[in-house]
Amino acid sequence: MIVTIANAKGGVAKTTSAIYLACAYARRFDEEAVILDADPQSSASLWRDMAEDQGEPLDGVDVRAANLSTLQRLRRTGSDGLVIVDAPPQGRLLEASVAAADLVVVPTSDSPLDLQQAWATMDAVPEGVSAAVLVVRAETRTRACRATLESLDEAGTPRFDAVVAKRQDVKAAMGHAPDKLREYAQVLDEIVEVAS
Ligand SMILES: Nc1ncnc2c1ncn2[C@@H]1O[C@H](COP(=O)(O)OP(=O)(O)OP(=O)(O)O)[C@@H](O)[C@H]1O
Ligand SMILES: [Mg+2]
Repeated sequence: MIVTIANAKGGVAKTTSAIYLACAYARRFDEEAVILDADPQSSASLWRDMAEDQGEPLDGVDVRAANLSTLQRLRRTGSDGLVIVDAPPQGRLLEASVAAADLVVVPTSDSPLDLQQAWATMDAVPEGVSAAVLVVRAETRTRACRATLESLDEAGTPRFDAVVAKRQDVKAAMGHAPDKLREYAQVLDEIVEVAS
């Protein structure tokens, strides 16, 4: 299955979500997950390199750089196991990342303001490709978080039931193998359910 993580807005936990989901998959199924790093910022590759340098490699996760050709080929061939594409915010690489996907995950914060970008990203997903919003870095007991979830539901926007809470350990995980997978374990369950 090919899961592309995309949002035209930056800093919405795309790379964090890619790494956590890949680790969740590798640990759950004892099978390798591939992350295609299609973002020129190469944060996923940097995360992998830092983790390796610290002596805590991302076991079962293979992070590879991806260009337009890689993504177009992926679209033609599909994938056996799980491939997660960490998409850039814009341009042809974003289009190719989305076009290759079986499922597009659009992370968004729990701020109603950020929803506009999430919806714009959802709207850009071509027909025939599934997409769902994932609320991340959420302060789950706040009014803003409830309002965000309500807005999504009122608009009939597909979303994950799992909401990823804002947490210090997730924030500090850059460059490490995640210790606790937190709500990403549930997010993976929902993805697997969609796939079957
Ligand atoms: N659940 C969380 N709780 C707290 N902080 C988080 C959480 N998820 C992500 N963050 C933090 O949010 C910031 C942005 O995350 P990340 O780099 O994954 O976003 P991105 O969408 O990949 O950004 P970019 O657009 O630069 O590629 C980082 O500092 C990260 O540590
Ligand atoms: Mg990123």
